[in-house]
Amino acid sequence: MADDHAHVQEFFGARAAHWDSRFPHDGPAYAVGVAALGLRSGDAVLDAGCGTGRALPLLREAVGPDGTVIGVDLTPQMLAAADDAGRAGAGMLLLADVARLPLHAQALDAVFAAGLIAHLSQPEADLRELARVVRPGGRLALFHPLGRAALAARQGRELSDDDLRAEPRLTRLLAASGWQLVSYVDEDTRFLALAVRQD
Ligand SMILES: C[S@@+](CC[C@H](N)C(=O)[O-])C[C@H]1O[C@@H](n2cnc3c(N)ncnc32)[C@H](O)[C@@H]1O
Repeated sequence: MADDHAHVQEFFGARAAHWDSRFPHDGPAYAVGVAALGLRSGDAVLDAGCGTGRALPLLREAVGPDGTVIGVDLTPQMLAAADDAGRAGAGMLLLADVARLPLHAQALDAVFAAGLIAHLSQPEADLRELARVVRPGGRLALFHPLGRAALAARQGRELSDDDLRAEPRLTRLLAASGWQLVSYVDEDTRFLALAVRQD
């Protein structure tokens, strides 16, 4: 496994057990992020980098009992915490890298990805892999419960235009990987970029 993946696993593995208790008030923001996908009953949706599965019950609620919910994460301890929290019942949990998804092409209607993009070592290739598994016209929500400025402040760094989530950079990145950015919100309490899978 590449060093950067080992780093991700080490970083999140050490935080998995306490992840949910660190962010107890995020629920309403996640509900807004999931709602933006416009999921319908029976849809198939992937939570990419699902972590402890905080979004899985919301996604299940959106697609109903006949829908499909899959959570993929690289860090075993995050998936174990999802299981411990009883979220395995909301969706299928898979230990996998978003760079190589064990899914057929165009198998999904949508992808929800919360807090993922900043941790990707090869974002363009990874976003292209997410496009591969989504049908044309399907949607991708890149979400974070904090906007860019608020997150930079919390992490003690300057806000930079080089940030992958800065709108011009993200627009180009998505276009290069099979997505079209259709809406972009960057407020203190929410980052939400919505993209549509191109034909
Ligand atoms: C900031 S956490 C967010 C977790 C969860 N989505 C949430 O909102 O609580 C980022 C997650 O992405 C996962 N991750 C990072 N790179 C990944 C990759 N290449 N493939 C799958 N998961 C990855 C990490 O293991 C971690 O659980």
